[in-house]
Amino acid sequence: MQAYRASLLHFHADPAFSDDAHHWHEDGLLLVDDGHVVAAGDYATLHATLAPGTPLHDYSGKLITPGFIDTHVHYPQTDMIASPAPGLLPWLETYTFPTERQFADPAHAARTAEFFLDELLRCGTTTAMVYCTVHAASVDALFAAAGQRQLRMVAGKVLMDRHCPEWLRDTAETGARDSEALIRRWHKNGRALYAITPRFAPTSTEDQLRLAGELATAWPDTFVQSHVSENADECRWARALFPQARSYLDVYERCGLLRPRAVYGHCIWLDDTDRARMAATGAAAAVCPTSNLFLGSGLFDFALADRAGMRVALATDVGGGTSFSMLQTMNEAYKVARLTGSYLPALRMFYLATLGAARAMGLEGTIGAFAPGAEADFIVLDPQATPLLQRRTSHCASLEELLFALALLGDDRAVAATYAAGNRVHVRDAA
Ligand code: GUN
Ligand code: ZN
Repeated sequence: MQAYRASLLHFHADPAFSDDAHHWHEDGLLLVDDGHVVAAGDYATLHATLAPGTPLHDYSGKLITPGFIDTHVHYPQTDMIASPAPGLLPWLETYTFPTERQFADPAHAARTAEFFLDELLRCGTTTAMVYCTVHAASVDALFAAAGQRQLRMVAGKVLMDRHCPEWLRDTAETGARDSEALIRRWHKNGRALYAITPRFAPTSTEDQLRLAGELATAWPDTFVQSHVSENADECRWARALFPQARSYLDVYERCGLLRPRAVYGHCIWLDDTDRARMAATGAAAAVCPTSNLFLGSGLFDFALADRAGMRVALATDVGGGTSFSMLQTMNEAYKVARLTGSYLPALRMFYLATLGAARAMGLEGTIGAFAPGAEADFIVLDPQATPLLQRRTSHCASLEELLFALALLGDDRAVAATYAAGNRVHVRDAA
């Protein structure tokens, strides 16, 4: 057993729909044994229950929360973050496809996977839904590196059989066959979980999407991930390629790709029927504000999503996104909400980056909160990480103000330590 003393914050409900959604222990204690949470509560109460000699890690003055969950990120795009282009489609052609080509080399994939995971951990992200490339070995590299760090990661091979360079193409059949082999190799292997990953409707034939949907039905506890309704040009293209579908989202539904554990990046240009279908099928939206602002894609409407009862979570979408930090992602999400007439309290944003994401992924009880028995993925946030944070957080009148300052001013510097499965996997001030 290990004990961690700090302020503790975690959630049992969505603050947008409940006034009693979070647990807050100003002087708290988190008890961890064998990689799992034993208890989270007040220091005064829990400390008395500890066996003599239980190691106590004192993070007093800091804040422990569940590790952040990034529900949409491309590890192969790490090296092309911050590459300028006038919109999504030219950005894909100019930077993304040539960058992803390098993952034909397994050694390059292995090196990039190591850097990517270390960067996630520096930012306090302990679980992510990750796009690999079309190459099966890019998935092996990511899961091998995640396994060494005992991380709960969801990832999959990109499926792409048209409208991309010939050197990045699979076929409907080889894509499905390779995906199934990867599912058998990796799904539930340690903490790894597999996501069937058609890149987006424009780069797949209907045959490929259908086979992906059949795989998703045959393996119902796998994940599905794709992009939808991100950019106006992309939406026009998808509609022209699939004229028989009611909408861009409907292309996926017709192929059996809307279901629980299906997570769709962006979802900006959905209509009310689409939102109702997302809610009814249990699919979730991964909202990527730094990417949407960077590529000029549009503004996600949180109020419309909430009204429809959609599952929503936050995501970086690196390399379209401009930061690996979920704190910086909250910062931009807040501003996007303001521009669409919504308001995102900091408490809601921390929910969306932890329990809300776990719920969107069907992983409540496993990650995202400190329920007894949950996996012990947690982070230590430092409200005094920078001179400015220190100055601002020295006079917060409420928890909301403290969290808001961390979200707006924080980044990797605010993450003092990161733990996965009870092991410390990052420490900021390592000598
Ligand atoms: N749509 C299809 N592929 C991509 C990608 O790699 N990034 C983003 N942001 N959108 C996409
Ligand atoms: Zn993406």
